Amino acid sequence: MANLPRVVILTGAGISAESGLKTFRDSNGLWENHKIEDVATPEAFAGNPDLVYGFYNDRRAQLQLPNVKPNRAHEALASLESVFGNNVLLVTQNVDNLHERAGSKNIIHMHGKLLSSRCINSGRSHTWHSKFDASTPCPCCTPASAMRPDIVWFGEMPMYMDNIILALTKADIFLSIGTSGQVYPAAGFVQVAKDSGARTVELNLQPSDKCALFDESYLGRASMIVPQFIHSLIDEYALTQQNSLL
Ligand code: OAD
Repeated sequence: MANLPRVVILTGAGISAESGLKTFRDSNGLWENHKIEDVATPEAFAGNPDLVYGFYNDRRAQLQLPNVKPNRAHEALASLESVFGNNVLLVTQNVDNLHERAGSKNIIHMHGKLLSSRCINSGRSHTWHSKFDASTPCPCCTPASAMRPDIVWFGEMPMYMDNIILALTKADIFLSIGTSGQVYPAAGFVQVAKDSGARTVELNLQPSDKCALFDESYLGRASMIVPQFIHSLIDEYALTQQNSLL
C-alpha cells in the first residue's frame, strides 16, 4: 500500500484482561492484593527476596496455564503488522508474551518480560520458563550467583526509551490500548506523539487519566473495540491506495 502511516501502539494490562491475566489497578487487580513497595521495587528485592521471587514465580506459572491465550485484540494488532509491516511498532508495558503468541514481531517490552531472568552480575537476560530464586545457578556465571526477575521495578528506568521516543516523534498515528495512564514515562507518550503531529487514539474500557489528550476515544472491551478499530484503519488505507491508483 502506498503512503502507509507509521503507527506506534502502546498496550497495557487491559489488553490481556480477557486472556485471564489480572490488571493492576482494577477492582481485585494485582495492586489490590499486593503492595507495590513489597514486591515491585529494588528495595523490596533487597529486603525480602523470597517474597519477590515468589510473586513473579506465581505470575510466570499463571502465564503458562493452558487457558491463558492471546485474545482477538492481540490478534488484530498482529494482523495490522502483517499489512503495514515495519511501519507498526508495538510498545507494551505488559510482561506477558501474548503479543508474540498472537504473531506480532516488532515489539518493545519496556517493563521487561516474565519468561526471562536477568543475571545480577552480567546484566544478561536468559529465557526462563520455570521457577527460580537466589539459589538457582545462573547460566552465565560460575559458581552460582543470584538472578533477578527480568522486570522493570518502580524506581528503575524502563527499557529502550531512546528507541521509543524516536518512534513517537515520527509517528503518524499513536494508539493507546488498555492502560490507565497512571505510570510514567508511558503515561507521557501521548503528549510526545501529539506534539509531533500524530493522530492520537485511545481504546480502553474506561477513559484513562490522560483521556483529554486523545483526538479520539473508543470505550469497551479490548476484544471488541480493538479488532473494529484496526479493521477500519486497514480499510481506510486500502481506500487511499485505490484512490492513488485512479
Ligand atoms: P492498569 O491496571 O493501571 O490499567 C488497566 C487499564 O485497562 C484500566 O484503564 C482499565 O480500565 C482497562 N481495562 C480493564 N479491562 C479491560 C478490557 N477488557 N479491555 C480494555 N481495557 C480494559 O494497568 P497498566 O496501565 O498496564 O508496571 O499499568 C501500567 C504499569 O503499572 C504496569 O506495566 C505495571 C504497573 O505497576 C510495573 O510493574 C513496572
